[in-house]
Amino acid sequence: MDPPPLWLMRQAGRFLPEYRALRAKAESFMHLAYDPRLASEATLQPIRRFGFDGAILFSDILVVPDALGRKVTFVEGEGPRLEPMLDAGGLKRLAGKIDLDRLRPVFEAIGRVKRDLPDACAMLGFCGAPWTVASYMIAGRGTPDLAPSRLFAYRHPEAFAELIDRLVDASILYLRAQFEAGAEAVQIFESFAGAIPRPYLEAWTLGPIRRIVEGVRADIPKARIIAFVKGGGLGPEQVAKATGANAVGVDWSVDPLGLAQGTTPLQGNLDPLALAAGGEAMERAVEHVLAGFGGVPHIFNLGHGIIPETPIENVERLVQLVRRRDPVAALRAAL
Ligand code: CP3
Repeated sequence: MDPPPLWLMRQAGRFLPEYRALRAKAESFMHLAYDPRLASEATLQPIRRFGFDGAILFSDILVVPDALGRKVTFVEGEGPRLEPMLDAGGLKRLAGKIDLDRLRPVFEAIGRVKRDLPDACAMLGFCGAPWTVASYMIAGRGTPDLAPSRLFAYRHPEAFAELIDRLVDASILYLRAQFEAGAEAVQIFESFAGAIPRPYLEAWTLGPIRRIVEGVRADIPKARIIAFVKGGGLGPEQVAKATGANAVGVDWSVDPLGLAQGTTPLQGNLDPLALAAGGEAMERAVEHVLAGFGGVPHIFNLGHGIIPETPIENVERLVQLVRRRDPVAALRAAL
């Protein structure tokens, strides 16, 4: 498709001055996420400014553990904190079922965004993949190599499998409710597949994502689902086959020029740091993505979330490049 549809992971967030102003008014990140008026406003801000083709709900993957009874707080400048779960006993303190009532503000935010969204812009919901969410539940915070969750999985395989199962069930109910509230597609974020030992890719992430996809479709057969699997060394066609997702998001380690010309829509994969840097490096990187994915159905996006330091002008230029590119110049740049 030329030009491809365009949205950016984390497009509602700190790189926008209007988001920072909104955030300054809210007591905490979680207050913002659980206030339908503020969350819908944050979702709409990047649409107003850049006219993206998709509006990703402003929320966080950690509302799922929060709605399973594991309270989540954000420490300013440090990130999320949960009570860690370092042994099998932690499972006992997990609710048996996700509390969708607690998440009602999220669904209300989706409804509000839908009301105000231009017809041509798709409303996107999301959840974290079970491994990514479990990693934060186990360690209670971010860790560079996910050592606590890998150790947990090796030391307590049954409890680990149970935790993943609970997150699969919770995610199915959560995503179904997002579709019911008006989401037109959802993305499952597996941000940490790169930390999974290869023999466990199926058990820790691909299988659980597939079960979520199947569980959502059991109720909503036409549910459109994007699987974003960062790291893990799998080709996007393999991810599509293993998970049953309609489309696959890829990170910047994948060279689109090296991909087989499949039929699965692919999403990605500009390096967020090329966008933050701007200039010549960004222009070349954008052309490489456009030319590389030229042969498959493509959704233009980053290979992971936009970073807060990204200058607004760079995003404006990106939109121009993606929407008004000169095909001859694009071809030259790619050669
Ligand atoms: O694309 C999207 O915007 C979808 C929504 C989304 C957010 N975070 C919004 C958000 C998604 C999918 C995430 C992913 C996420 N959140 C992960 C997976 C790893 C990853 O980065 O993909 C994890 C571990 C989290 C937990 C979390 N939430 C962290 C580590 C942070 C940063 C904390 C900080 O202080 O820098 C957040 C906050 C967060 N989540 C923001 C946004 C837009 C920033 C909001 C703000 O800073 O005010």
